Amino acid sequence: MTKQRIFSGIQPTGNIHIGNYLGAISQWVKRQDTYDNIFCIVDLHAITVPQDPKVLKTKTRELSGLLLAAGIDPKRSVLFIQSHVCAHSELAWILNCFIPMGWMQRMTQFKEKSQKQKEQVSTGLFDYPALMAADILLYNTDVVPVGDDQKQHVELARDAAQRFNSIYGETFKLPEPVIPEVGARIMGLDDPTQKMSKSETASNHAINLLDSPDVIRAKLMRATTDSLKDIRFDENRPGVYNLLVIYELFSGKKRKEIEAHFAGKGYADLKKEVGEVVVEGLRPLQERYKELTADPTHIDSILSEGANRVRPMAEKTMALVKERVGLG
Ligand code: TYM
Repeated sequence: MTKQRIFSGIQPTGNIHIGNYLGAISQWVKRQDTYDNIFCIVDLHAITVPQDPKVLKTKTRELSGLLLAAGIDPKRSVLFIQSHVCAHSELAWILNCFIPMGWMQRMTQFKEKSQKQKEQVSTGLFDYPALMAADILLYNTDVVPVGDDQKQHVELARDAAQRFNSIYGETFKLPEPVIPEVGARIMGLDDPTQKMSKSETASNHAINLLDSPDVIRAKLMRATTDSLKDIRFDENRPGVYNLLVIYELFSGKKRKEIEAHFAGKGYADLKKEVGEVVVEGLRPLQERYKELTADPTHIDSILSEGANRVRPMAEKTMALVKERVGLG
């Protein structure tokens, strides 16, 4: 039986944090044997907002190292850089011509990001979901594992595929978003009503995958909680709930067991213990990262091999799409 295909992507911008890890990367790693996997570092998405060219290149290599260190295994999964396969931009243009403006205008992420940037907003930022749809549809993707904030974009990709198929006949497979039951939306430590985000710069907002143990512990000790006392999984108390979810995912323990463990303890104990599970949970990743990045040519060869593996698949889809549309 052939395996179903997973496709997912991540932007090489800012610092990769435990939200990205728990909501997406760790989900990809654990499904590697069950699916046929393609993971993409989406540098073309990154340039929808201003980037320093040198920093972008460095961040792209850093993210590749982090994904490999987190357990993405090039023997079981393809890892590549989006701009290495031209078909992504090419299909995005064609999809642009079929996606109604109104669909794009409904995208909540565009509304949020454009409010922050005001008159600096690029057309690319508005059009971002078309490029994401192209990423997914090029590879006959079945399943797209993402955090909660990307669900709407994956649904747009599915709608775009459906619309194209209804005009031109069966061309694209319809992808399904898969969102983890726990950890789909890790919140900021400084403000647990806001999603933990790479673009947020407040020093106590996120735990980054490469933060040192001392930094991790200090950030957690300063995490916003509330003025209550008992330690329970209660979504109406976002600060404590967020810390407990982080503890749950890093420790692998059940909620009942966790609540019993913290019964009678205070928030200082909770923060300290969350700090320890996060430090221990990230330790192997940080060690592997150091080893892997000692030889950057090794990472570069994995990336170019990855692009070589997916390029023929993408070109096959493009040939069919062009034929359907009457291009060439
Ligand atoms: P990006 O780079 O913002 O985030 C990468 C992945 O991390 C998830 N994530 C979170 N999960 C839980 N809690 C959080 N606080 C949190 N923050 C981020 C995201 O949902 C995502 O799964 N547009 C995408 C990248 C992309 C893509 C694709 C994804 C481009 N093409 C095709 C899937 C398929 C993005 O900017 O993710």
